[in-house]
Amino acid sequence: AYLQEKELSQEIRDLVMSLPTEKGFWHTTRQLQGVVACQKYFQAHDTDILLVTTPKSGTTWLKAIMFALVNRALFPEPKLHPLLTNNPHVLVPFLEMEYINSQFPDFDNFTFPRLFSTHFPFFVYLCRNPKDTFVSLWHFTNKLRKPKEMGENSLEEAFDKFCRGVRLYGPFGDHVLSYWKLSLEKPERVLFLKYEDLKKEPKVQLRKLSEFLGCPFSQKEETCGVVDEILNLCSFDNLSNLEVNKTRKLPSGEENCTFFRRGETGDSMNHLAAEMLEKMDPITEQKLNSCG
Ligand code: A3P
Repeated sequence: AYLQEKELSQEIRDLVMSLPTEKGFWHTTRQLQGVVACQKYFQAHDTDILLVTTPKSGTTWLKAIMFALVNRALFPEPKLHPLLTNNPHVLVPFLEMEYINSQFPDFDNFTFPRLFSTHFPFFVYLCRNPKDTFVSLWHFTNKLRKPKEMGENSLEEAFDKFCRGVRLYGPFGDHVLSYWKLSLEKPERVLFLKYEDLKKEPKVQLRKLSEFLGCPFSQKEETCGVVDEILNLCSFDNLSNLEVNKTRKLPSGEENCTFFRRGETGDSMNHLAAEMLEKMDPITEQKLNSCG
């Protein structure tokens, strides 16, 4: 279903033929076209900021927060904020997706610093515990599954693949670890955030983000409640209940509502059997423990 042959360049067809494949692994063929074009043609700007996430870690949430944070001087009127009428993925696009249909996407209407996001390797990285990430991904792929009569993906099969690292954008542990290591080596270039920390202490994390992005809150902003304003604007309840996110679709076709489900930590406990938890824990520990 992913392969739309006629839209692919010969270069991509050749590249695809040379790669190992497993259904649903690393990239879809169409994405690969965007990835290659982006590598070739993207002109980075010194002030660009890249949000990097592993899928289903809370990308939509952090896109909203970063957009609201960095552009807070541009949109002082809360009722006219672009987040109220645009899905966060439209305001902070996936870089490689922009290159799928064009070698020269139009970024002219972007304000500086430009905000992009990518699920790839100034990075802000967001990770989430693998169990919740997996459960969120499983629900997400079920919602995208068409036609509906196909029913749900098997939870057990999807879990087995996730544990083997067969997943869009590659194995969970490698994805997280590469950015974790980079954040230790270059803390001034890579900020490593966790979904769970954002839930537990949103204000602390937002202040940390604002400092990393070079736009810390002034004393006046702190007193006026700007921190709370951004968090309320970007909260799960607010975003998921907006008309734009209940009824519209992204240009790439996904319904905006698919990016909002429960927005909680620990929901995996309601879905994964004890033996599944027992299987994933040692894999995660083995991969991540030695790195702190
Ligand atoms: P759940 O499926 O656990 O509810 P991504 O944006 O990377 O695709 O991640 C989607 C996950 O983030 C979903 O998790 C979704 O509900 C959650 N999410 C989306 N917006 C959020 C927000 N504003 N606050 C907290 N979680 C949010």
